[in-house]
Amino acid sequence: MDKYDKVIDLAKRRGFFWPSSEIYGGVAGFLDFGPMGTLLKRNIERRWREVFIRRHHGLVYEIETPVITPSRIFEASGHVDHFTDVIVECTGCRKRFRADHIILEQMGEVQGIEGMTTEELDDVIAKRGVKCTECGGKLGKVETFNLLFKTSIGPYSENVAYLRPEAAQGMFTNFKNIYTSMRERLPVGLAQIGKVMRNEISPRQGPIRLREFTIMEIEFFFDPESPRSDLLDQVAGRKLRLLTEDLVKKGSMDPIEVTVEEAVKEKMILSEWMAYFMALSADFISELGAPHQSQMFMAKLATERAHYSAQTFDQMVQLDRWGWVEVSGHAYRTDYDVSRHQQHSGQDLSVFKKFDLPVKERILIAHPDVSVISRECKSDTGKVLAAIKSIDAKSLMEKLKSGSAVMNGVNVKPEYVRFAEEEQSIAGKRFVPHVAEPSFGADRLTYFAMESAYTEKEGRVILSLPRSIAPVHVSVFPLVNKDGIWEKSMEIHNDIRSAGFISDFDDGGSIGRRYARSDEIGSPLAVTVDYETLKDGTVTVRDRDTWQQFRIASNGLRDYLEGYYKR
Ligand code: GLY
Repeated sequence: MDKYDKVIDLAKRRGFFWPSSEIYGGVAGFLDFGPMGTLLKRNIERRWREVFIRRHHGLVYEIETPVITPSRIFEASGHVDHFTDVIVECTGCRKRFRADHIILEQMGEVQGIEGMTTEELDDVIAKRGVKCTECGGKLGKVETFNLLFKTSIGPYSENVAYLRPEAAQGMFTNFKNIYTSMRERLPVGLAQIGKVMRNEISPRQGPIRLREFTIMEIEFFFDPESPRSDLLDQVAGRKLRLLTEDLVKKGSMDPIEVTVEEAVKEKMILSEWMAYFMALSADFISELGAPHQSQMFMAKLATERAHYSAQTFDQMVQLDRWGWVEVSGHAYRTDYDVSRHQQHSGQDLSVFKKFDLPVKERILIAHPDVSVISRECKSDTGKVLAAIKSIDAKSLMEKLKSGSAVMNGVNVKPEYVRFAEEEQSIAGKRFVPHVAEPSFGADRLTYFAMESAYTEKEGRVILSLPRSIAPVHVSVFPLVNKDGIWEKSMEIHNDIRSAGFISDFDDGGSIGRRYARSDEIGSPLAVTVDYETLKDGTVTVRDRDTWQQFRIASNGLRDYLEGYYKR
């Protein structure tokens, strides 16, 4: 049994998670969370919310948008065309595989496989003799497979919609609304924690690759002409372990260690805001279980990056069975998404920047000659004037260079317009903001936190979860269920719960078994009520990791827990 199997076994046994629809045989890529798993996952989400959103109130705001999204949004975002994986079908048994995965499974490492075209993958399959893993049959041609789950809205099958594969688009499409309602300030970050769906071809890594999972992401909008982060100083000296594009190209897995300040100065990280969030992410993942030395940020090559990204770093940690695995992605999405939504919706999603002082500029102006237009166009005069106004003077001049042009359904002739260069006072300009995106998967983090915390001592399992995310704050046990000890324990349990802590009351089996159960769910503290409690009001407190015990007055427990959990 490797650590993965042990964690999966513990997860099922102690109510953390297990495959979804299990009583019907299960469906790969879906997970059900039980009581302990839900508490743990919510705590991870809560900590993420605290670190990334609440501490930045005024700068980063949480919003909520629907999972079901009209197709136009994903046509604009590029997901309909580009959100694909490579698929290959066995010509014998017809089983379908993710093409790059089946090659890697049979060949081990293949340099640059992530960015290969379907033709290149066909070539690798043919040259290396990759066969169907089910029946040994010949594989067909590699094709692309779109990972969007499709549905329709209302009783109209033509009303196509998709289940969102990222929460990001809800933030891009709402950017202008929120910018306007939140006092028109830049930079500004929008954040979401919510479900996303990806129709993975054949997910076989349990909680590591899911078809439905919770994403936690921020789209951070900033002016590309003022890209400085005023929070960078807070993390400037922090070390990041970076596997730069150059190192990735060389096939190295040996990251360089640089300060955030150096990484930005040397343009290893293209956006200061991205660097700032990467530093926060390093601390966040460290809190969940991977110290800085056991994680790194790995650059994605241009051929591997998502279509919207000018630079991406995946934050990686090592898992026992799966090796280096991504726990967060940091993408510099530039103005790609907002510009695309601007083009596709026809709405102005740009923001206006006022110059400190108005600047004088000579600009081309198009003056319509109303008397000529009205003489020739009669009742269409208004339409022609509107057509002339509908585009900027430079583009209009270009259009009319070679004679008349049909615009907005009317014929516009060169003699209808007089062009002149004039000096104008410009108060500011419009621009589309750039975006840095940190994005995390909460389910994968839940597994990662459990694997990192999984330890064995004297043949027993201990889940040494950090106290900030442990599902239960304290377990309470009556030593025996008689002589008023059970009642006293229940009183203490209720008192702890009413103070806002999660207290787990366990009165079943021997004390040893109860300690073991408490250790397995990762409860940092266990309180035992015994005969001495009845005499002097003290209880035993036992530490999950050291198994050391000490006595404390039961009426001091609340204060002790407040200090212990630093709330
Ligand atoms: N929004 C990040 C991702 O789709 O992975």
